[in-house]
Amino acid sequence: MALLQKLIDINRGPSNYNMNPDYKNAEYLLKIITAIYNIKDLDTLLERILLEARGFVNADAGTIYLSARNHLYFNYVQNDTLFHSKREKDKYIYSQSRLQIDKNSLAGYVALTGQPLLIDDVYDIKSDVSYNFDPTFDKKTSYRTQSILVVPLVTRSGEGLGVLQLINAKDATGKVVPFSMIDNMYISQFAFYAANAIETAKLSRQMALRMIEIVELRDPGETSVHAKRVGAYAIELFEQYAKTHGIGSHEARTFKEQLRFAAILHDMGKVAISDIILKKKGALTPKETQHVHYHTIYGARLFKSHHSPWDKMATEVALNHHEKWDGTGYPGKIPDIYAKQLQFGPGKKGKEIPLSARIVTLSDVYDSLSSKRVYKEKWEERRVLQFIQEQSGKHFDPELVKIFFSIHDTITAIKQRYVDVEEFIIKSA
Ligand code: C2E
Ligand code: SIN
Ligand code: SIN
Ligand code: FE
Ligand code: FE
Repeated sequence: MALLQKLIDINRGPSNYNMNPDYKNAEYLLKIITAIYNIKDLDTLLERILLEARGFVNADAGTIYLSARNHLYFNYVQNDTLFHSKREKDKYIYSQSRLQIDKNSLAGYVALTGQPLLIDDVYDIKSDVSYNFDPTFDKKTSYRTQSILVVPLVTRSGEGLGVLQLINAKDATGKVVPFSMIDNMYISQFAFYAANAIETAKLSRQMALRMIEIVELRDPGETSVHAKRVGAYAIELFEQYAKTHGIGSHEARTFKEQLRFAAILHDMGKVAISDIILKKKGALTPKETQHVHYHTIYGARLFKSHHSPWDKMATEVALNHHEKWDGTGYPGKIPDIYAKQLQFGPGKKGKEIPLSARIVTLSDVYDSLSSKRVYKEKWEERRVLQFIQEQSGKHFDPELVKIFFSIHDTITAIKQRYVDVEEFIIKSA
């Protein structure tokens, strides 16, 4: 807090810093720190950090890179000039792109040295420095990067998590101007709080993914990368749904945070199912099938004993992710999930199935069909899409199927980002 106090003092002092009191003040800084502090989902958090940082210094664009194994991974990109629609933005968020952490690139330099960089024009960098601006992105997009501010994301304990990069500060008329020393100070301070929030969110994410790794010991199909994809598809489906249903941004954000964890953990109940069944190469006998169906109940029991909103949605999703829109799914209405003698069915139907579960059902089946399982080969995309279309109104909520096809480019981008073989990326970010 000492530094923050200092910033407040500066802010009150003689105005030899040429500050714009409209936005460059410590109160605003406090406000945006508070805004990011309650966000528990990693992706939501990164998106918000970038948005708030850009708003603070009026930057046209920005990127967050997270580091892992000597590389920086492109985790979030925003660019008001280039990305007018959310769809375009998605392609960048989910695209796989990384930089070596060394002194050659701007972001690499900052990650390596822990020192911020403030450059008035990246095309006019002095020749006595090690770093260079990489114009590839500009060339590809005909964007003109000019002023840049790159600050490290370093936690309280001194761990470097990555860098926050802000591009093209704009003045009141929209003209691109350099970032100021004051911008640098505020953003560096903000980045410190942001880094601590990221660390916490990463821990929760890692915890959920580790839980899935336990399931993976039972069922080799339930990998953390499958879980991540299901989580990401679910978020995208919900965002689109929220838009068409006029769900407010605050409510939508809360829902998304819970949905991400619930989707990642949808098959947790498989820990209680014999791996002899789950690893069986051929088709299951009716008795084995019945056993597998219990994973919905076991999952629900696991989360229901706790009481946060996260656990509530995780329970809902675990219990209902194999219900079908037409009422032919399982386990159906269960008066007491703790009963010794459980009677399955009749299946829940249509909107009796919670939205969270309807979304995860579609995400899960899409991903299962698109992946290799011990008992089946991976299906061609065309065949998967045909199946989903066919099952609209049968297995799946028809409205969600429509949404699914309307965002198919994003779905594909997610699939390409979280690839099964790229273990090191999966474990890292
Ligand atoms: P999973 O492998 O994660 O599959 C999830 C859901 O994706 C399945 O739920 C099903 O709705 C869909 N799905 C996956 N593969 C296929 C397929 O080849 N054809 C069709 N039409 N749909 C598919 P479901 O059927 O309730 O199965 C739940 C879980 O039971 C599966 O999770 C898997 O762990 C296990 N399972 C299902 N069938 C078999 C099998 O033949 N052999 C083995 N060893 N396990 C199976
Ligand atoms: C996104 O839509 O990818 C950002 C929001 C989130 O991940 O929860
Ligand atoms: C993301 O960039 O989508 C979040 C980081 C991760 O969990 O891989
Ligand atoms: Fe399941
Ligand atoms: Fe699954």
